[in-house]
Formats: sequence, structure tokens, C-alpha cells
Amino acid sequence: MWYKKSVAKLVAEAQESGEGTLKRTLSSTGLVALGVGAIIGAGLFSLTGIAAAENAGPAVMLSFVIAAVGCAFAGLCYAEFASMIPVAGSAYTYSYATMGEFMAWIIGWDLVLEYALAGATVAASWSQYFNQLLRVFGWELPPELLTGPWEGGIVNLPAIIIVCLLSLLLMRGTQESSFVNNVLVILKVSVVLLFIALGWQFIDPANHTPFIPVNEGEELLKQGKIGMFDFFKEGYFGEFGISGVLRAAGVLFFAFIGFDAVSTAAQEAKNPKKGMPIGIIGSLIICTILYVLFSYVMTGLAPYTVFKGDASPVATAFANTGYHFLNTAMTVTIIAGYTSVILVMLLGQSRVFYTMSKDGLLPKIFSDLSKRQTPWKTNLIFMVFVSIFAGFVPISDLGHMVSIGTLFAFSLVCIGVIVLRKKNPSAERPFKTPFVPVIPILGVIVCVLMMASLPVESWERLAIWMAIGIIIYFAYGRKHSMLRKEVEGKE
Ligand code: ALA
Repeated sequence: MWYKKSVAKLVAEAQESGEGTLKRTLSSTGLVALGVGAIIGAGLFSLTGIAAAENAGPAVMLSFVIAAVGCAFAGLCYAEFASMIPVAGSAYTYSYATMGEFMAWIIGWDLVLEYALAGATVAASWSQYFNQLLRVFGWELPPELLTGPWEGGIVNLPAIIIVCLLSLLLMRGTQESSFVNNVLVILKVSVVLLFIALGWQFIDPANHTPFIPVNEGEELLKQGKIGMFDFFKEGYFGEFGISGVLRAAGVLFFAFIGFDAVSTAAQEAKNPKKGMPIGIIGSLIICTILYVLFSYVMTGLAPYTVFKGDASPVATAFANTGYHFLNTAMTVTIIAGYTSVILVMLLGQSRVFYTMSKDGLLPKIFSDLSKRQTPWKTNLIFMVFVSIFAGFVPISDLGHMVSIGTLFAFSLVCIGVIVLRKKNPSAERPFKTPFVPVIPILGVIVCVLMMASLPVESWERLAIWMAIGIIIYFAYGRKHSMLRKEVEGKE
């Protein structure tokens, strides 16, 4: 259970080509586009308004910077691994090389929460924007077909349809999917730039003051009228003030999820040694700049209080410009943006299971490739799995599961960098995380703090999901592990 894969073996596997392997088609630009494709989505277009209204006010741009710094620590660690061990398994494979098979399984299983459920979360909110678009043409879906039974509806039908369509596209081929993704990314980035450029001149500086709205509890704390315990107990934490900026950073972490998906395409990169760091760090930098500017304009166009409970804050803010006639075009491009997030998440998920199956930890069905060299059976299975979650589970529950699962994976990747530097200091590292162990340690601290800010239920669900995973590992994976057979000479 603690057997480790050697880095040399993994690198050799990554270099395999021909039948039964993934095709190398992605350039560095394609990888950056893949990252941006996975990153900009529901987090920016839906959560920015909510985080401003409920937690940070105009200082939401500061929250974006804090979340970005946290992600950058993990991103630098991912970049070291992805350039060093460029296989499709991402964090799963890195753990296999550093912490052994059991931890690798844990992380691979955990990544389902990130990729599959992030796909489901964004698909679920995709349908809200889709319905908004239908309304422009005078149609509308009945509310029962827009939410699942826990939110008073029957099923989120558009969410299921988009998941199915994108899964079919992925089955056709990575190159086709990458092309569609590039188009969607161009549209999505254009809408963000357009919003910033057109909105800029309509910013009312009065909306940016106070920059950090006052948190009454923090004031009382300063004056010594309440203690720390009361500050938390009375629910002051997170309602504006410094603590609000921090809470908003935790909420907005969701907006950055996806840069790590670039690493799952390592085996399809033309030159992973160069392309991986560029793809991961490049997409993170681009998105951070766009997010800060976007939130600056958004909170400058309208008082932050109006975004409370607003499902389409972009439209609300944009209504205060002279260009509100562009609202429909904006909605269309936002839908395109969400679509690319779902696409990359589904892609990432199938690649992780492909690798786990290649290692024998999952049945062979997950690594069967079609003539077009895509793991189509995995795509099909996840089409059903993701559809069920997107169609029936409430968005907020899904979102928290995604965040906790992702943060867990990030923490282990950061730890992995330190472990591998110790165990295998001489391995070739085309990209080196700077200031090891400081950066990885800071990465773990930030991730654990963000995990701590999530509701208790998400911890419980994480524990249940992991328990199921551990049962499957002992019932199947451990017995079929290729590495185990090799080491113990069973084959
Ligand atoms: N970062 C992705 C989004 O915001 C998951 O939609």
C-alpha cells in the first residue's frame, strides 16, 4: 500500500507514444487557453457580486488577490510536478511517486470531487443563464425544470443536456475539444475585457467608498467590549471588515479552480517541459489580472449592496452603463464561458481515471481508447455521473464539495514537492518551485485555512466520499495494482 512509482518509470511512461496512448496535440498557447477555459466561469460571473454584497464590499478585489496568492503557492508546486512528471494523472500521479499507492488512490478519488463535481456545479448554474437567454426570445422553461427536488423543482434539465453534449464532444477527440475550447475562451475573455473597457468610464468613485465596509464586531473587539469568542459566536466574522475580506477570499477560491486541470493534459502537450509551467502559471496570472479589474469595475458601477441575492450581477452592474443594449450579447458569451469550464473539467476527470486504470487501480474500462485515442468509455460513465449531480443536487452543496476536494488535493501536492525534493533531489526538474520548503508550506497553510472556513457538512461529505473510496481500494485497487504485481513479482 506504500509502494511508490519511480520518477524514472513515470517519465518513461509519459514518453510512450502510438496506439493505446493519448495524442500530443496541445501547444503552450493551447494549454494557457485550457487553463483560462477552466478558470473563468461561475466564480467570476456569479460569486463576485455575492461576495461583495455579503462579505467584502468594494474590497472584493483584495479578496481576489488573496485567493490568487494562495493558488499561486499551489500552482508553483503543480508546475514543478507537471513539467517533471508529465502524465495525465496530475496530483494522483505526483502522490504515487512521493507518498505511495494508498495516498495516490486517496487523491485520485478526491479529484472526482474537484473535476466531476465542478463540472456539475457550473452546469447547474449554466442553466440559469440559459433560461435568461430564452427569456429574451420570449420563451422560458418552467421553474420545475431548472432545479432539482431539494430546491423545489423536478430536475435541472438544461444542466443535464449540456453535460451530455460536451461529453459527446470529448468522445470525438481532444483536438476537436481544444478547438471548441479556444473559441469559447476567446469569447469569454472578450466579454470580460469589454465589461472592463466599457464600464470603466461609468465608474462612480462614491461606490468605492468605504473600500472596506465596517464590521461592527471588529470595532467592538478593538474597543475591548467583546472577546474573540463572542466575535465568532455572534457571527461577526466574515461580515465585512478585515474578516469579511478573508471570508470572501475563501468564497472566491472557487473562481480560481481549474488552473490545475492544465496538468491533466500533460500527456497531450507537445512540449510538456515548457508548456506545463507556462500553461499553469500563465493562466493563473491572466485570470488574476482580469478578476481584479473586473471586480473594480463591477463594484464601481453599482453600490455593492444591490448585488445581494442577485443571480446575474453582471447585468445589474452593466445596466448602469450606456451600453445596456449589449446585455444579451453578454449573456451569450457568459454561457460560452461556463461551457468551456464544464468541458475542461470533464476532460480532466476522464484523464485522471484513465491514468488510474492504466495503473490497475480501476477497471480497464476506464482506459479503453477509441480509434480517435480518447477514453470514450470513461467519458460516457462520467456523462451519467455528472448529469445526476448537475440535475438533482443543489448548487451550493456542490460548490462546497468542489472547494474542499480541491483544497485537499492542493495541500497534498504542496507536501509532495517537499517530499520529492528530499527523496529524489537529483531528478531532472525542468521547472523548480522557488523557495522550497517555504512556498509549499505556505501553500498548505493557506489551503487548510480555506478548508477550515467551509461548512461542517462539507467535511462530513468529504469523509463519506473518502470512506467509500477506501473500501473500493481494498476491494479492487490493491488486488489489481500493476505496481504491486511488479514489485512482488506476481507477473
Ligand atoms: N473556476 C471555475 C469557475 O469559476 C470552476 O466556474
